[in-house]
Amino acid sequence: MHAAEPMPRADIDKPAPRWIVLKFGGTSVSERSRWDTIGALMRERADRDGVRVLAVVSALSGITNALQNIIDVHADDTACAERIAAIVQRHRAFAETLDLDPDAVLGERLRKLDALLADPRRTSAQLDWQAEVLAQGELLSSTLGAAYLSKQGATFGWIDARDWLQAAPLPNQNEWSRRLSVSCDTRIAPAKRARFGNGAALLVTQGFIARHGDGETAILGRGGSDTSAAYFGALLSAQRVEIWTDVPGMFSANPRQVPDARLLSRLDYEEAQEIATTGAKVLHPRCIHPCRAANVPIWIRDTSHPQMEGTVIARSVASVPGVKAISSRRGIVLVAMETIGMWQQVGFLADIFERFKRHGLSVDLIGSSETNVTVSLDPSDNLVNSNVLEALCADLAEVCRVKVIAPCAAITLVGRGMRSLLHKLGDVWAEFGRERVHLISQSSNDLNLTFVVDEALLDQDGADGMMPRLHALLIASGAMPVDESAVFGPSWRALHADATSRAVPWWRTQREALLELATQGTPRYVYHLPTVREHARALAALPAIDRRFYALKANPHAAILRTLEKEGYGFECVSGGELAHLFKTLPALDPQRVLFTPSFATRGEYADATARGVRITLDSTFPLKHWPELFRGRDLILRIDPGFGHGHHEKVRTGGKGAKFGIETGTLPAFQATVDAIGARIVGLHAHIGSGIAESSHWADVYARLASLADGIGTVSSIDVGGGLGVPYEPDAVPFDLAAYGAALAAIKAAYPQYELWVEPGRWLVAECGVLLTHATQVVEKSGVHRLGLDAGMHTLLRPALYGAFHQIVNLSRIDDADVDAFDVVGPICESGDVLGRRRKLPVATTGNDALLIADTGAYGASMASNYNLRGLPGESVLDDIGLDGGAP
Ligand code: LLP
Repeated sequence: MHAAEPMPRADIDKPAPRWIVLKFGGTSVSERSRWDTIGALMRERADRDGVRVLAVVSALSGITNALQNIIDVHADDTACAERIAAIVQRHRAFAETLDLDPDAVLGERLRKLDALLADPRRTSAQLDWQAEVLAQGELLSSTLGAAYLSKQGATFGWIDARDWLQAAPLPNQNEWSRRLSVSCDTRIAPAKRARFGNGAALLVTQGFIARHGDGETAILGRGGSDTSAAYFGALLSAQRVEIWTDVPGMFSANPRQVPDARLLSRLDYEEAQEIATTGAKVLHPRCIHPCRAANVPIWIRDTSHPQMEGTVIARSVASVPGVKAISSRRGIVLVAMETIGMWQQVGFLADIFERFKRHGLSVDLIGSSETNVTVSLDPSDNLVNSNVLEALCADLAEVCRVKVIAPCAAITLVGRGMRSLLHKLGDVWAEFGRERVHLISQSSNDLNLTFVVDEALLDQDGADGMMPRLHALLIASGAMPVDESAVFGPSWRALHADATSRAVPWWRTQREALLELATQGTPRYVYHLPTVREHARALAALPAIDRRFYALKANPHAAILRTLEKEGYGFECVSGGELAHLFKTLPALDPQRVLFTPSFATRGEYADATARGVRITLDSTFPLKHWPELFRGRDLILRIDPGFGHGHHEKVRTGGKGAKFGIETGTLPAFQATVDAIGARIVGLHAHIGSGIAESSHWADVYARLASLADGIGTVSSIDVGGGLGVPYEPDAVPFDLAAYGAALAAIKAAYPQYELWVEPGRWLVAECGVLLTHATQVVEKSGVHRLGLDAGMHTLLRPALYGAFHQIVNLSRIDDADVDAFDVVGPICESGDVLGRRRKLPVATTGNDALLIADTGAYGASMASNYNLRGLPGESVLDDIGLDGGAP
């Protein structure tokens, strides 16, 4: 269960003028122009609404990570001092960007930061010292911001959040969370409240920090700044709290999975709490309770679209019954406990729950029968980073038989009046009925209906995926509110209409040429080089990126390699085979334009790479320890596991504990020692967290993480944030936001300008340049399912079978004909998984023989094809408008 927080007292006598609390995160405080926006929003509210305004701000992007790195190496004086120096430098530089005198504005603060090295708490009271270190980021950013804004006319005051937010210990907290993940008490005497801000109308303070009763600094933990804003809202009985973020609000589903998801314009606190807790990441779940208890409305607003209404969460909203949202959470672990002795056995549940408590594990959902109790565990750092589950199971085995079912996903329908809506949810139940549901839980608060299923079900991407299907069924079911305009705003798709109205794909205008190529034999991939150039140039136009390497595993066709070489790209190879092919295709290529980033490669491959003089990336000490002669005296790049991964499918997420790639940051000193021992140097850091990532913000986080590590190494000159940029495979999906990707990188690059920023995308450069031509073979109906057979199958295009990936399929021969039926489109391979698309509406001649096209197959299409069933490899052709010689693949 989620821990209860202490109840602040709702106050009746609210002093005028009231407060509005605004919260801004790290990206919003790391650029001068963003501070101009913050100032404008604050002044506008003060002038228009006659209120006083408090802005709660986070640390500059990357700084909390950098401070965490000081804690990680706290025992090593030199490393600590270097890291502190880098943070000082970063803030001095930013002060100059804001036209402020760094010594006058930050002098004392920076001295305090330096003094942390000699602080006795570093050894005597480590958690207090850690809290003090972590607090510095917000103290610095808020000091800079208040000074900058005050120069522009109105006076902006600054207050220390710790003087007002008092940590309140909760029962059953361990020592760490008692100091570094605290909750706060927001009760305050009206007389004291009246003194808040000493009469200033515009104030800046820090998120994330509070104070313990003993005077030491306390840290609020994850989601800290949102929660700080909520605490201040409650403490001041504010008119409202505005959370400024990078999305317009909460949606009826995750818009990345379900573009038809609707903006939720109005929610009550309980619904918002359920949605935040069951998956949506817009608002931290901890921040709703303080506002609810003090009856302070929360607004969510989009920093890049300040005029957009966003989501309002408030009690005054008349509650409208109906399902408001469907959300999903990954990484759920189920623990099923079975005992024959349970029937009417007194104290069994007490016995088992005591063991969960002993291991610090929070139980979320519960299902039980006479002989079985199944519970779900909240995903937590504790669960991911330790062997706590094994230890729990060993303890539970004393009282019952235990089975762990993982990884699971919880899919939750949220909305008021769920109990009276069940009869409308027939189709939704039927959809789940086709899958293995491990647990169903309906909460007695009448707000939540949750199904726990295998996590793999969520991995089916695109319009065919589970979440879009369920969302569409919900809309059709009539279970969503009748008076929907009171609840729902526009859909994500409508809000991004400009972004989604993509240009006509090249293959439409090249249809005749493609039909001609199809007569040369299918299955056949065709690559359109002007599209490759278009992508290459768009990426090259981002000023933050210093060097670009093409990950040729996506598509090593010779014409594509030549095209990208001419566009100034380098190359990233992962095997001896790729190196040989690259240098055969481009014999004059400068080896310094080539990265070699293999995984578990042989000694022979490293020897070949060193002989060729390419840049080598290592991701463990094994090669250094066993084959030191290969690396002696060399410049090396080190692949880091930043501790998190992303991607369109779990099989392509390459960061985090479960992935085989990279070294954990904690083992960096050992790696460095091995490198030093053979006289080599770490000149670059690298991370590639996964492939097919739709959101554009992650790479800036990766850069920040690597840059703060690089500061501690001292010999690093470049930081490679990998590839992974997503592609909109569904015809109406939102394209990857390249401009936002470039802007996020530029913001963080400004913080660490001393490193060259490198990227190595594959998919994004070539996916849309390729199509797969294929011929229909047979049209068959069986048990009501219509199947269209193709000469292409999983041996030609593996992605649908391997990842449940979506690719658009069109009948090129009948491109303007009306659809006749919905087909499962299948290949000729003797496996049931040989399905290229399900329930596709297509015009199809019953005789077979039509030429079909499978779109966006330029990346990981031909390069993953096989000769399975001895059906042969696909053909490949090239279309170009400047007569570049296609050459042999
Ligand atoms: N750098 C490294 C170290 C990589 O491992 C990869 C891809 C890339 C760069 C390029 O990532 P991209 O920009 O293409 O996402 N077969 C899967 C994709 C596997 C990606 C493997 N590594 C698929 O079809 O979705």
